[in-house]
Amino acid sequence: MKGNVKENIISILESNKGLFISGEKLADDLNVSRAAVWKAVKSLKNEGYNINSLQNKGYSLSKETDIISSNIIKNNMLKYKDKFNFLIYNTVKSTNIIARELASKGAESGTVVIAEEQTEGYGRNGKSFFSPYGTGIYMSIILNLKKEKKIFKSSFITTAAAMAVSKSIEEITNKNTHIKWINDVFINNKKVCGILTEGAFSFEDRKLDYAVIGIGINVNFPKKGFPKEINDTADSINSNDSNSDIRNILIARILENLWDYYFNNISFYDEYKKRSFLIGKRVSINIDNKENIINVLDIDENFALVAEFEDGRIDKLTSGSINYKIS
Ligand code: BTN
Repeated sequence: MKGNVKENIISILESNKGLFISGEKLADDLNVSRAAVWKAVKSLKNEGYNINSLQNKGYSLSKETDIISSNIIKNNMLKYKDKFNFLIYNTVKSTNIIARELASKGAESGTVVIAEEQTEGYGRNGKSFFSPYGTGIYMSIILNLKKEKKIFKSSFITTAAAMAVSKSIEEITNKNTHIKWINDVFINNKKVCGILTEGAFSFEDRKLDYAVIGIGINVNFPKKGFPKEINDTADSINSNDSNSDIRNILIARILENLWDYYFNNISFYDEYKKRSFLIGKRVSINIDNKENIINVLDIDENFALVAEFEDGRIDKLTSGSINYKIS
């Protein structure tokens, strides 16, 4: 078995969640001493894994364990396991801040920063992003565009991420999702995921050096509910106080789908458009701090919004914040 003792132990316990495995068996299977097993279990417990130990039975990972773990994510990945390198934290200000810092120092594509909680999570237009402990996914994925020598528009990256989230939620939960241009994911008209892509341009070649895709998903219902400012517009994927362990599975699927779109050039335009609920709607959009009423005619192949303004002018918009109102 490859990997370190801790990774291997959690992987075995995770595959046998709720069952006891003796220290002797773990030691034999991993070809290490029982003391090494004991030490690794102790360290895993300190990291927050809920492992029960019984003298004559061994160790068992609690069925209720719902912790984000790189091993559990990898165990759930059918492909691209070796493409990702995870940095998982309990509490951070913002995973995007950490990822940007790493990216500016040349971190590889596929470096993924995840936290159980963010104290200063942020979204577009300077808004804060509600990131309570243990119920959501707060994840930032680094794309090192300079090293990959790929030239991509930020709209492609950000829509690929929205599509990856939308598709993964549907694959895992059987719930229908919609995308609000450009990258908010909705279930039943309520927002369950927001995405903020940040990048750095290089002055010399005027191309994106790196991009950080920050994905925030409300997975399980927050223990204290949503703050009143977003209570009417936000929801979680699991709308009751459920604690099922879907976060690791969801992360695994999102990364696989994103890799397909980004590196394997699998087209996602048609599926994106099918899920977009703004086409044919009359909405208000804020462009350069000015509210405009538009009819959304289409989303073109570059993911620009084809908009008809009130004076009859038709324009293709690549940015702007939509105030979604059905009329
Ligand atoms: C939005 O809805 O405007 C975008 C929200 C993006 C939130 C994610 S959570 C992970 C990453 N870290 C942050 O501080 N923001 C993004």
